[in-house]
Amino acid sequence: MAATSGVYSALGSREARALRQGGAADVREALRAVRARTLELADAWEGTHGLRVGYDPGLNPPLWEWGHVAWFQEWWVARNPQRSRGAQADPDAARPPPLLPGADALYDSSRVAHRARWDLPLADAAGTRAYLQRTLEATLDLLDALPPGAGDDALYFFRLAALHEAMHAEAAAYMARALGFAVPMAAAPAWREAGEVHLPAQSFRLGASEPGFAFDNELPHHVVPIAACRIDAQPVTWARFLPFVEQGGYTQARWWSEEGLAWLRTLREPPAPRGAPDQAAAHLSLHEAEAWCRWAGRRLPTEAEWECAALAGAGFEWGGAWEWTASAFLPFEGFVAHPYRDYSAPWFGTRRVLRGAAAATSPWLAHARYRNFFEPHRRDAFSGFRSAA
Ligand SMILES: [Fe+2]
Repeated sequence: MAATSGVYSALGSREARALRQGGAADVREALRAVRARTLELADAWEGTHGLRVGYDPGLNPPLWEWGHVAWFQEWWVARNPQRSRGAQADPDAARPPPLLPGADALYDSSRVAHRARWDLPLADAAGTRAYLQRTLEATLDLLDALPPGAGDDALYFFRLAALHEAMHAEAAAYMARALGFAVPMAAAPAWREAGEVHLPAQSFRLGASEPGFAFDNELPHHVVPIAACRIDAQPVTWARFLPFVEQGGYTQARWWSEEGLAWLRTLREPPAPRGAPDQAAAHLSLHEAEAWCRWAGRRLPTEAEWECAALAGAGFEWGGAWEWTASAFLPFEGFVAHPYRDYSAPWFGTRRVLRGAAAATSPWLAHARYRNFFEPHRRDAFSGFRSAA
């Protein structure tokens, strides 16, 4: 891994654009790169913490995570008889059995309740690694067998598998942090104070409009009005956030929403772990981001403002933390669920949109159209924010 994670602008990293818009060779590179990261994290977990994890609603047993990554890839690629149809595939089409007998009853996140994942007869570490290896080999064989110039439908599930694995790698990194041990991770970028970007009033086309891969929740693109505003050119750093803490912000109800106050009362730990002053403030709940904004006379940008500013380029940079926005995670009008039906639809209305990318985010995922989403109280993930006015 690189020593410092990326600082991104415009549509995002070279890797994320290549995975979404490139050809089979780019997808192959992505699948191999994200797998190398999965194995690097698995080595770190096994070598430091071990594979036993007590039940916690914010965690998954690591062996379940890795078995699930292998299962997901096999389910949507090698076992999917309609994989060539891309987003038009019937997700319920009958499938041949998995390479690991019984895997459907173990690793299907739609069918295996979260609590049950601690009580399953999962494959051991060696068996799980073998399943990862065999399913990736099957995936790459099928990718290599595609005709030259294979299009977006043919590549859809290969791209989805790579992006899904990248998401689980990030989860393995923040679960490690929550459990208090270190895994290899790029350092967050250091930011120099860079002021604001001015967005003029305009009509902005929100959502994915490029050819290539898009998640269902990025579609359909549609025009939204944007009022003139100013938006931070960079994420809020610890240097900007800490004065709020030091001036007693966590004890002054006036900065907090009703939900924020209720969340404060549930806190067992002192507020906000701290990083270097020039790094993006992170591990913050939505409530902390909103409280800081109220204290500073600012507000969170909407996701449309964020995306518009990112695509305008002109000094708007992101990286180092996911950024809470003012937007609830909702379907764009005309939303149609893609075959992986549980990716978006179950979470609409209860999550808040975050944009950007964290230091632990795979560069293959770091794309300006990407809508991440978390529950407002979450602070175990690498969540920060920027502000607007
Ligand atoms: Fe998953």
